[in-house]
Amino acid sequence: MLVTKQPVLKRFWYPVVALEDLKIAPRSFTLLGQKIALWLDATGKPAAVADRCCHRSAQLSKGKVIEGNLSCPYHGWTFNASGTCVKVPQIAAEIIPKTTEIANEV
Ligand code: FES
Repeated sequence: MLVTKQPVLKRFWYPVVALEDLKIAPRSFTLLGQKIALWLDATGKPAAVADRCCHRSAQLSKGKVIEGNLSCPYHGWTFNASGTCVKVPQIAAEIIPKTTEIANEV
């Protein structure tokens, strides 16, 4: 049995990083074979999404937190805690396609 292939294990809580460390910068970690980006949202609660930008696959955890959202280090697309793209620097927020979401299975 390969542990990383057992979906039931995604139901549990895992201590992966100290909350104090998230106050400094977003973090990356691998859990059950999945790379995850973790940061603090605007309310100070931990937020997690897949650590891969849906635009050009940059590592989101290398980006920065702006007003509680995670901004990609490559082109600046910005995602909220649900994995929804809330900002693309080149276009207005109201015309961001609904397909610009990150997998948020964490
Ligand atoms: S790769 Fe993330 S915004 Fe382009």
